[in-house]
Amino acid sequence: MSEINTSRLTVTDIIKRKGNEKIVMLTAYTTPTAHLLDPHVDILLVGDSVGMVLHGLPNTLAVTLEMMVLHGRAVMRGSSQALVVVDMPFGTYEGSLVSAHRAAVRLMQETGCHAVKVEAGRGIAKTIRFLTERGIPVMGHIGLRPQAVNVEGGFKTKGRLERERDTVLEEARAADEAGAFAIVIEGVSADLADQITKEVNVPTIGIGASPNCDGQVLVIDDMLGLFEWTPKFVRRYANLRETISRAAETYAKDVRSGRFPDGAEVYNFKAK
Ligand code: KIV
Repeated sequence: MSEINTSRLTVTDIIKRKGNEKIVMLTAYTTPTAHLLDPHVDILLVGDSVGMVLHGLPNTLAVTLEMMVLHGRAVMRGSSQALVVVDMPFGTYEGSLVSAHRAAVRLMQETGCHAVKVEAGRGIAKTIRFLTERGIPVMGHIGLRPQAVNVEGGFKTKGRLERERDTVLEEARAADEAGAFAIVIEGVSADLADQITKEVNVPTIGIGASPNCDGQVLVIDDMLGLFEWTPKFVRRYANLRETISRAAETYAKDVRSGRFPDGAEVYNFKAK
């Protein structure tokens, strides 16, 4: 029997970080990227943003459980110390508690991930409780909920208008009371994110929220500068778009001019 890996961070390690050391989370979708990020982060999130980032979809709604299983497995293979959380895709957890449980169990069994994430509108609190009570750690995601893009009429920030604030606060309280082990706060005004962070018992992880959240998350392709357009809250730590484009341009020139491959890059005949 293979040994149980005890070196990974656990959900309880993450909960203890509340108000203490900041939690570092990034998305990852592939084995090589997970391998590079793993030594530096606490949580690798296999986000359903994979649909937009790697598969060219306009939003996350067409992402399937099969896609999340495939990418979840890849990230698990590439990591050894981070906690791995996999997003439950649109349509797999809203219909009924039993179908949500079935989908979450499939994600955990087929990927080996440690927790799942759900976009936690007010109606989803009972699902969080149902899953948590059955051994499935759940991360909630409140505020700007990308899976609600059609109801909202776009990707809209939350809590900057007085009339939105109570709803976001209620989402946070409900996820906390239902047993979520952490809550992602996306696209929420900084003061409201601060209030939520103070009120809830579990760590908050901000994205376009507030520096006072208990942790931060970014989509890896955004922070590496692989997208032409990035939202205001993204800080670009690299410009891989330019690096890749320049490398491809130089390679094309070298092939067309016959400069690639050169003598050192071919195999020569060996008599023996
Ligand atoms: O899918 C995703 O990448 C996410 C992050 C933006 C938090 O949910």
